[in-house]
Amino acid sequence: MIALGCDHGGYNLMVAIKAYLKKKRIAYRDYGTDSEESVDYPVYAYKVAKAVAEGDCDCGILCCGTGIGISMAANKVKGIRAAVVSNAFGAEMTRRHNHANILCMGGRVIEPEQAVEFTEIFLNTPEEGGRHDKRVAMITAIENGTFEG
Ligand code: RB5
Repeated sequence: MIALGCDHGGYNLMVAIKAYLKKKRIAYRDYGTDSEESVDYPVYAYKVAKAVAEGDCDCGILCCGTGIGISMAANKVKGIRAAVVSNAFGAEMTRRHNHANILCMGGRVIEPEQAVEFTEIFLNTPEEGGRHDKRVAMITAIENGTFEG
């Protein structure tokens, strides 16, 4: 199950992403927003991040104007690794190496077709594990205040 959320600046991307997921019969839960009317992106970041962190959803996709604000807010939730992506390489590598659990994109940065492409890559790329497990564990230690550098 994929958690979806956006603000008005990312709504155009989310329309395309939802159409793609529907076509592929991939299950998602839509946490809004549902129009281009101005809203506050932390509201949607928090809903999606909580759903992923609590295990209600396997991963998430968040879109705002840049992808940046919504990723910052999502990354404040324990257990979340939200990555802003604007190219295919990033979409792949953030899964392989950073074990990202939320993909973030900007509606004022990329086109809807690119958002669909990056979504497809993100959803189909596995975590690489191995040496990256250790590095991701370090991120978690920083989050938990137990990192000893
Ligand atoms: C909203 O105008 C805009 O600030 C928001 O979508 C996002 O880009 C924030 O990072």
